[in-house]
Amino acid sequence: MDTEKLSTQFSVRKLTDNDVPQIYELCKSNPLYYEHCPPFVSAESVQRDMTALPPHKTMEDKFYVGYFDGNKLIAVLDLIREFPDKATAFIGFFMMDIAMQHKGIGTKIIDDLCLYLRQQGYSHIRLSWVKGNLQAEHFWHKNGFIETGVASQTENYTMIFAQREL
Ligand SMILES: CC(C)(COP(=O)(O)OP(=O)(O)OC[C@H]1O[C@@H](n2cnc3c(N)ncnc32)[C@H](O)[C@@H]1OP(=O)(O)O)[C@@H](O)C(=O)NCCC(=O)NCCS
Repeated sequence: MDTEKLSTQFSVRKLTDNDVPQIYELCKSNPLYYEHCPPFVSAESVQRDMTALPPHKTMEDKFYVGYFDGNKLIAVLDLIREFPDKATAFIGFFMMDIAMQHKGIGTKIIDDLCLYLRQQGYSHIRLSWVKGNLQAEHFWHKNGFIETGVASQTENYTMIFAQREL
């Protein structure tokens, strides 16, 4: 995965511990998300997310990346390659800076990502949202993601899985 090729508009690179304050600021600007997906973000939870992995995956499969407009972080994407199978890429998290929302930028980022993944030979891109988070549900539907029919229950909420064909 060549992170620089993930966007035609922004520079994209893997995020590191040095970026945690900026990531935290971006996440903090989206309280609605954490109402559906508690607990509220902290610097520690960002650090945990940076290394969280699904079963049987390693850090080499994980691309916790930032989209930058100059020096400003405008979006965070957690992408897992070849999960749950070789033909599928998995989005674990996607969030935009609140000041940059509703301008079509999220859609453009996802379109560019899908194009790149298709060029890399992927057939599907999969993700999940928290049931009841209508902002997320509308956004992913608008971007061509369709429910797979699978849902998973956690202690606090239900995750709905959806997929887009590339
Ligand atoms: C979801 C998110 C990534 C969309 O980014 P964006 O750049 O605003 O998206 P776009 O401008 O390309 O598209 C906007 C679409 O998102 C959806 N949307 C965004 N904010 C919304 C809101 N408050 N209520 C309902 N739908 C909303 C709508 O479908 C909207 O389409 P419309 O303009 O036709 O109404 C962004 O709002 C975000 O980061 N939200 C918090 C984190 C999150 O929910 N991430 C997804 C987790 S699974």
